Amino acid sequence: MEFYITTPIYYVNDKPHIGHAYTTIVADTIARWRAAQGEAVTFSTGVDENSQKTVDAARKNNEEIHAYIDRMAETWSSTWAKLGISNTDFIRTTEERHVEIVKDIWGRIEAAGDLYKGMYEGLYCKGHEAFIKESDLVDGLCPEHKTEPELVKEENYFFRLSEYQQRLMEFYETHQEFVVPANRYREVMSFVEDGLEDVSFSREGKEWGIPVPNDPHQAIYVWADALVNYISMVGIEGWENHPADVHTVGKDILRFHAVIWPAMLMSAGLPLPGQIAANGFLTVGGTKMSKSLGNGVDPLDLAARYGIDAMRYFLLREVQYGEDGDYSETKMKDRYNSDLANGLGNFAARVLTVAEKLPLAIVAPAPEFTGAIKAMRAAVHEKLTQFRFSDALGAVWAAIAFGDRYVNEEKIWELEEGPARTAAMSNLIALLEAVARELVPFMPETARKIGAAIAHDGDAVTIKKPEILFPRMK
Ligand code: MSP
Repeated sequence: MEFYITTPIYYVNDKPHIGHAYTTIVADTIARWRAAQGEAVTFSTGVDENSQKTVDAARKNNEEIHAYIDRMAETWSSTWAKLGISNTDFIRTTEERHVEIVKDIWGRIEAAGDLYKGMYEGLYCKGHEAFIKESDLVDGLCPEHKTEPELVKEENYFFRLSEYQQRLMEFYETHQEFVVPANRYREVMSFVEDGLEDVSFSREGKEWGIPVPNDPHQAIYVWADALVNYISMVGIEGWENHPADVHTVGKDILRFHAVIWPAMLMSAGLPLPGQIAANGFLTVGGTKMSKSLGNGVDPLDLAARYGIDAMRYFLLREVQYGEDGDYSETKMKDRYNSDLANGLGNFAARVLTVAEKLPLAIVAPAPEFTGAIKAMRAAVHEKLTQFRFSDALGAVWAAIAFGDRYVNEEKIWELEEGPARTAAMSNLIALLEAVARELVPFMPETARKIGAAIAHDGDAVTIKKPEILFPRMK
């Protein structure tokens, strides 16, 4: 079986913060989960370079634009590498493999009669890379980016999105899981139900961006270009054979993915992706992360202080997928100390310390243990199918709590060699191994360390206790 999952491609005017890392870690968790089930996973991420923001950022940095994008693409791809993200490829929208496919898709949409030239007059917000309505402005400024939109009056190519309302509605109705979580699905449905307007699909006289085929004075609208990256990754034929199973996105870019993108694909005569999964927004101490405030938390810095797995755990556990979530140093430290140092770490240490002392034979675990293990596995599987990462981890931590109670009740540190010790330790080792197996997608390094500490040799196990998994933080 094959599985194809994507992250959004990130703008290069900014460096990665934990909000971006969150979306990427979500996709990585699903990718690892599928890979662990033996599926051949394609996991794509990359950068969106053809935006006007790129031009502005390079200028602000006094850097030649190509030097700037090369440097930033390296920043993004090396950040994911340092965080151990399992992406199988990394795409840049200035790459030839992408530019060619964008032109191909443009040609298909044009051939379908879905592009026409018209005058556009409107307010363009560079922050959004989209036109915004005058009625949405607050004191003349874009409420999100706090910048004055540019008044644009120019000739553009338009995409006949309005023609797709019916087909989109039919598609959503027959694919109720197309957008998850369900509240986001309803949001998309009602947006489309209200009627769709055609969208401007090119900008006039822009020197940066992919030129419209046969009309070099027009540059293809950055979103019409960026969305196509998902095809560029696998090629047109690849996409026809197996379109993306899941696009992970943030709620801010859901409409582009759940409305415009399917319509573009319908127009181009290509299959639609399986699912759009939208996460909420992460704030820092209750405040939106922004360049101007300079309050973005660097995921590399966080990982250096707590460890990659602890950062992954925090984000996946603390945030209810689909809802907004908040990071703060206090919350991070609390979760770290209570769930990781005192929870998982302490449980693993207790079991392995006792197990290491005396030679150990292994027998089949008791029914309440096989039951607890089965229940945990079923819950993790079900919750991951629904992108409920926090609940999935909750099921693992319930199993850890069950194991901890048993350690206390049985006073395992007092047991002498004999059948009682064999039975108790067999139960606990089986549980700890099962916990580690379930943690593979969430905390890959921790799962590996626990797994590596327990070596089976027929009925016997040899334990080599690892270093403390999560030293307590002051
Ligand atoms: N370039 C476009 C995406 C094109 S995809 C064909 C873009 N880039 S972005 O860098 O601005 O943001 C990409 C994604 O980063 C968001 O959709 C979201 O998934 C994630 N996040 C950015 N800030 C975030 C938070 N503060 N919290 C959670 N996710 C955040 O939009």
